[in-house]
Amino acid sequence: MYRPSPYEGLQTLFAEGKNLSDKERLAFSYGPLLSWYREHKRALPWRENKDAYRIWISEIMLQQTRVEAVKPYFFRFMEHFPTVEALANAPDEELLKCWEGLGYYSRARNLKKAAGVIMEQHGGKLPASKEELLALPGIGSYTAGAIASIAYEIAAPAVDGNVLRVLSRVTGSYDDILKQSTKKKMENLVSEVIKSGEAGDFNQALIEIGAIVCVPNGAPLCDSCPFYTVCAAREKGLIDEIPVKTPKKKRRIEEKTVLLLQYGEKIAIRKRSAEGLLASLYEFVNVPGKLGEDEVEAMFEKPVTMEPLPDAKHIFSHVEWHMGGYLVSVSEVPKALENEGGEPMIFVTWEELREKYPIPAAFIAYKNFLDKLYEEN
Ligand code: ADE
Repeated sequence: MYRPSPYEGLQTLFAEGKNLSDKERLAFSYGPLLSWYREHKRALPWRENKDAYRIWISEIMLQQTRVEAVKPYFFRFMEHFPTVEALANAPDEELLKCWEGLGYYSRARNLKKAAGVIMEQHGGKLPASKEELLALPGIGSYTAGAIASIAYEIAAPAVDGNVLRVLSRVTGSYDDILKQSTKKKMENLVSEVIKSGEAGDFNQALIEIGAIVCVPNGAPLCDSCPFYTVCAAREKGLIDEIPVKTPKKKRRIEEKTVLLLQYGEKIAIRKRSAEGLLASLYEFVNVPGKLGEDEVEAMFEKPVTMEPLPDAKHIFSHVEWHMGGYLVSVSEVPKALENEGGEPMIFVTWEELREKYPIPAAFIAYKNFLDKLYEEN
């Protein structure tokens, strides 16, 4: 168990019954927080050096999913696109294939756009200023702060949702952490204490506390926390109340029927429209609504062999897809199932599908089904 030693000056303040300001809470924990981080930080691939390109890519990926899930994506991405130049020249399909399953494909597209700007305007090197980083496509205040501080030791805050949880608890703040104004306030607070030269470790220490101590789900491990002495939420028993998050609007539900159309050894896929959700990615053929077997059969002119597949669900930020599905073997390519706004369907082998065509995670249940089917045969 880690118990911070009494911080300099703190005992006296407590003895005087003085309430600590937010800044004092952070400033008093500055040293213990850095020591804690240097002792407990996880060894992660993007922490091996201070390469701004690696840090940038990892930070964008980490906005999508957990550290453990990011690792294989990170390694693969670095193999395919080891430099800003390689990324700027990335063929779209190869780029999206590397991003397959991570979601929010616009982030991958913005990476490539930003790489182009870095080549043209910054000689292929990520700029060493928060303002210039902020001007790049797909880079917001958090990412700019993370790159500036971790790669270049610039004293800029990097406040994401996890850091907001930590800081709200430490300061005992009831501000809604989903509000932009709360984020700004916490960024200002960090700006007051962060120092250039140690900025990268300071921000990463806050990130690390959010990941492994003041955890997102479940009880925080306060006994192991360097903020133990100064944390207002711990002191006042407010851990269950803070952070405050107003519930989001309900998501729209869309029902769909996914058809895994088999024609001989091949399977039908089609490219989605260039606009909107999952733009330009490939998908299995699907139609609106949850259809019964009779309704699916009626869509084809010739008799088909079909097998129902398990239901699946995918949650996007504003929509939920509730899907049913069928494996349908056709003896003739059907015409009626072409894609509105997208490209006509094509039939590809399983190997081609796996290697070349980015299929978004929304269809993972059906892709896994095919994986098993083709592995067994
Ligand atoms: N989450 C966001 N940024 C991170 C980082 N640099 N290391 C670990 N987890 C993170």
